[in-house]
Amino acid sequence: MKILVIGGGGREHTLVWKLAQSPRPTKIWCAPGNAGIANETLKSNNSKVECIQIGAEDLKTLLEFAQNNEVDLTVVGPDNPLAMGIVDKFQAIGLRAWGPTQQAAQFESSKIFSQEFMDRNGVPTMKSASFQSPSEAKSFAAELGGKCAVKADGLALGKGVLICNSTDEANVAIEQIMTDRTFGEAGASVLVQELITGTEISLHALCDGKTAKLFPSSQDHKRALENDLGLNTGGMGTYSPVPFLKEDKLHEIANTVLEPWLSGCTREGIDFRGMIYPGIMLTDDGPKVLEFNARFGDPETQVYLPRLKNDLVDLLEASIDGTLNEHELQWTDQSAVCVVMASGGYPNDYEKGKVISGIEAADAISGVKVFHAGTTIKDNKIVNSGGRVLGVTALGDNLLAARNLAYKAAAMIHFDGAFSRKDIAAKAL
Ligand code: GLY
Repeated sequence: MKILVIGGGGREHTLVWKLAQSPRPTKIWCAPGNAGIANETLKSNNSKVECIQIGAEDLKTLLEFAQNNEVDLTVVGPDNPLAMGIVDKFQAIGLRAWGPTQQAAQFESSKIFSQEFMDRNGVPTMKSASFQSPSEAKSFAAELGGKCAVKADGLALGKGVLICNSTDEANVAIEQIMTDRTFGEAGASVLVQELITGTEISLHALCDGKTAKLFPSSQDHKRALENDLGLNTGGMGTYSPVPFLKEDKLHEIANTVLEPWLSGCTREGIDFRGMIYPGIMLTDDGPKVLEFNARFGDPETQVYLPRLKNDLVDLLEASIDGTLNEHELQWTDQSAVCVVMASGGYPNDYEKGKVISGIEAADAISGVKVFHAGTTIKDNKIVNSGGRVLGVTALGDNLLAARNLAYKAAAMIHFDGAFSRKDIAAKAL
């Protein structure tokens, strides 16, 4: 079986690493991949994974590549190609691709679609409304006392959210998004959402249109700096499972959110096959959905897949074929912690091309896996090429052991300007 993975970050490295452990694939390509992905080997025949220089949003070239190379399964990592309809385009010419269709991917690509769906189907969420007019958006923000999130609708490369704590801040945010178009045309309409407080967790469920198979709990650390200070990032570190959420509580939360979501999909004819990843706030009034994502989380994937015992090829195929009810997800009892090492300055500007040392030694520690995100090869050396550079991940018999091991491994890796948060999983202990 020949597999093509689309994307080139830490999530895709983790997907490729896990797929390569299956006895089924005989060839894996990744577009565009990264330096770590290019170093993976297939268990079935010891062949190297091959990175191909096609961008994740170059759908035409990806399609031609898959056709010419008779790819049997394409696995889509990032949200943008999904929102652009990559799965529909592949399916239209008889190619198998894993991930939601363009219609189903709207849970992530259109915040307004998602919000209205939740309101119609009783999925618990915050007070919110969408606007095409800045003055109406400002009035609603004022009703919320200015404590709100202002979100650009549509694709804004994960950046179109401004958090406000006063009416003045909300007015500025609305002007920036709607009038100045700071996030481009996605700002033609905005969603203004009540800010709620509580503990944020990530849920993931693999879906096949009828069944949603719940993953264990995990928690991301979105801010750049310790104690949840600094700017929002793509995610600076994760751990799984979350010790304060026992199994029965996790299922109760999932039922509150996923049951109405899945019934709503059935009622509205949305055939969701792929990963649904709701960001959840645990509040005094119960769990509330902050947002839906329609893909694996990054860096949640880095702590999920090392714990997953099943063959990922089998699961992704079952997700496409509607046969997930024939599979039982199995997980190790171990905990996993992922510490992201980022380029100095991230999420703002940062310098690229810094030589990274120590990866091999860190990777050699039993229980450690260094997933690459923003890395490439220059003059035969691994250098940073993105904001989030590495996801240093460790398994341990408990959260403390996994955390200690991840930090021990991260301390062995060096590049100019490198930084990581020192408090990943700290609160959970
Ligand atoms: N963990 C953040 C994200 O994947 O969007």
